[in-house]
Amino acid sequence: MVDRPVVFSGMQPSGDLHLGNLLGALRPWVLEQHLFHNYFCVVDLHALTLPWDPKAIQAKTREVAALYIASGIDPKTSTLLVQSHVPEHAELSWLLGCLTPMGWLERMTQFKDKSRRRDSERIGSGLFTYPVLMAADILLYQTNFVPVGEDQRQHLELTRNIAIRFNHLLGETFTVPEARIGQMGAGSKVMSLDDPERKMSKTDGSDAGVIRLLDPADRIRAKFRRAKTDTGQAVELDHPSAGVANLLEIYRALSGCTQEEIGAQFEGVGYGRLKDQVADRAIAAIEPIQARFRELTSDPATLDQILGQGAAAAQEVAARTMQEVRSRVGLLPAQPA
Ligand code: TYM
Repeated sequence: MVDRPVVFSGMQPSGDLHLGNLLGALRPWVLEQHLFHNYFCVVDLHALTLPWDPKAIQAKTREVAALYIASGIDPKTSTLLVQSHVPEHAELSWLLGCLTPMGWLERMTQFKDKSRRRDSERIGSGLFTYPVLMAADILLYQTNFVPVGEDQRQHLELTRNIAIRFNHLLGETFTVPEARIGQMGAGSKVMSLDDPERKMSKTDGSDAGVIRLLDPADRIRAKFRRAKTDTGQAVELDHPSAGVANLLEIYRALSGCTQEEIGAQFEGVGYGRLKDQVADRAIAAIEPIQARFRELTSDPATLDQILGQGAAAAQEVAARTMQEVRSRVGLLPAQPA
């Protein structure tokens, strides 16, 4: 078998997966999975960087894994794993953290955004070191490409810098990965429907702004109908407001149409019709995912088995990388008893 480039990506099991996660990450993963050797991870340790409910995290982790498969990730083609099942993620994160300057982490805009809204006496330091764990996730598998949405670009740049620094200080060890953003042409930054200056987010913003992958069809339609546009009545492609531009972008991502086709289809069309057509496309994409999701979650044992096999396959590779990393760092190897 020809060696294919390695892809690694993941989602946090915090909040509910939404249309931004689907268009910015999941769909690109699915459409390109046959080109690569893939690891798709449910990053449960990252979900602990903001307050969490210990009684909810297991169910959320299974839910995200089931949504990966329901969206088209094939466990025979791609390795599906839960981050905490492979302890090497946390170990590598510690070692990389010791080589990552504080200043690099202080510049992370996601950290600044998330910590600004909270009292520093109450936020865990995991929120600060979060991007180092993300770097560990990626570097453990000697990853070539990381397909993510636009909001992860800065974290990917940091990951590259950490890999380069480690290789420079301790010897060539890690593949320096590349972000893969916007490969599908649209959907790498889906904005909130009720506040289109902000991205659609699992954890921030109101319910009205977020199309959840498990929302019923009538709620999806109602949210699109209430989406913020502007005081005009019909689409003017020369200067669409942020809200209208977002609806057009979502339509483009869902339909695969080009900018020209979108122009021909929507110039002068009333906002009501635009919203209905975007809702139709979103529902057509999401309903089959929901049907498959219900089947998968009715059989949690099979899902757990897939995740067990994924963790075992991933750990083989992770253990190999860690062996080399420990030796580069200079740690004393443990001898068998
Ligand atoms: P997370 O869980 O916030 O989001 C998962 C993926 O969805 C993309 N995404 C979006 N794309 C378009 N429009 C949006 N509104 C939108 N919101 C989210 C994200 O870019 C991401 O690709 N730090 C990561 C998780 C992570 C990770 C990793 C990713 C941990 N380790 C290693 C890649 C590789 C995060 O919080 O994603």
